Amino acid sequence: MRAVDLILKKRDGGTLSREELDFLVQGYVRGEVPDYQMAAFLMAVYFRGMEPGEVADLTMAMVESGDRMDLGSIPGIKVDKHSTGGVGDKTTLVLAPLVAAAGVPVAKMSGRGLGHSGGTLDKLESIPGLTVDISPDRFLEQVRRIGVAVVGQSRRLVPADGKMYALRDVTGTVDSLPLIASSVMSKKIAAGADAIVLDVKTGSGAFMKDFDAALALARTMVDIGERAGRHTRALITNMDQPLGHAVGNALELREAVVTLAGGGPPDLRELCLVLGSHMLVLGGAARDLAEARSRLEELLVSGAALARLRAMVEAQGGDPRAVLPPTVQGQGGDPRAVPPPRPSAATAPAAPADGLLPVARCVHPVPARADGYVTRVDALLVGRAAMVLGAGRARKEDLIDPAVGIVLRRKVGDPVARGEPLAEVHYNDDDRLPAALELLEAAYRIEGQRPPVRPLIMALVTRDGVERYCA
Ligand code: URA
Repeated sequence: MRAVDLILKKRDGGTLSREELDFLVQGYVRGEVPDYQMAAFLMAVYFRGMEPGEVADLTMAMVESGDRMDLGSIPGIKVDKHSTGGVGDKTTLVLAPLVAAAGVPVAKMSGRGLGHSGGTLDKLESIPGLTVDISPDRFLEQVRRIGVAVVGQSRRLVPADGKMYALRDVTGTVDSLPLIASSVMSKKIAAGADAIVLDVKTGSGAFMKDFDAALALARTMVDIGERAGRHTRALITNMDQPLGHAVGNALELREAVVTLAGGGPPDLRELCLVLGSHMLVLGGAARDLAEARSRLEELLVSGAALARLRAMVEAQGGDPRAVLPPTVQGQGGDPRAVPPPRPSAATAPAAPADGLLPVARCVHPVPARADGYVTRVDALLVGRAAMVLGAGRARKEDLIDPAVGIVLRRKVGDPVARGEPLAEVHYNDDDRLPAALELLEAAYRIEGQRPPVRPLIMALVTRDGVERYCA
């Protein structure tokens, strides 16, 4: 076999076999297929696409490039969850302990944030002492003992993905449906769970800007999962505006704690309950979605879900006092209080909050310029504003500042009077403030009429088909 013949075949619209894809992928990981040939192949895929069986074969070729986690020593049906990434998406921080508290083990390997959407690991690492770098044995032991662990993905899992993604990043081939689907699903399959719930975001802050593209991606990923013998479902959810109120690592962690304590922003809570219900049903812990939901609601109210997060934090070396219920931390009952309100004069110094999580030095309000209703809070622009402040990384090696970010005081549909705060900027570096403010000003739109509400949960994709919840 020769790589050039396979590139020609794809370039001319042919379908590659599993053996041919193995030749390319394993050859690339071993260094026998050079970057320039893999780049040409990726571009051919970008333009020609892949057949359903072919993209599943590419996924399995990628899985075979490294180790697979064996979760067999953990009793029960293991259910994984993946989000395609969005702004303010802290659902894993809520879902992993919540679902574990309901009796479904969650052995989760997560990624770091890149670009405008933050990563779960970065958010968790704002807890003093907590490590996400855990050996496979300790990871398995922790899930057997307390039902949950959230750790960094082992470099030995799907090495093909890391290498191919880095090449895609510099060759204009990131936003290809088969390449995204195989990248995501190869990591999920190698991570070893029996069932997978996917949250495919659509909207301005998502990879897939429009619904039809998100639907196509969701269908492809569900098909790949099912072909690999994993029960897979995908929800398509709205990412036009950020999820919840907090954007930025420690700010998001606080919001997740408030949500686990039974409060939290309605959209975040709802998404966690819906995703969690599907996880419980796939994990065999509930007969149907209604039973699953009431179980999860009880766990939020009783404190059991938050107690499970504390157990996880402690097991991973973190200080569990950093995730005490908000009233104990002195944050009061306001679900938007992440962290507590402070003097709102420009550049007022930030009061110490709970003392354990990092807090930005200064908070700057973004006032409304007119009376009316908020009709848009552009997720991409808010994500960029958080990045400018240092909450995210443009390149893998960038350091992030866990304390900084944005707290949205108004979201789409909220009424606002001129001068009232739309958002707060939490920042440490004065030089970064103007650019963040400019992005936030552009992110908000205020108009005279209350806008129609786009549903948060837009569709469910299973192996049996698509259920749409929006027109
Ligand atoms: N997330 C991934 O893991 N891979 C992609 O290609 C895109 C998003």
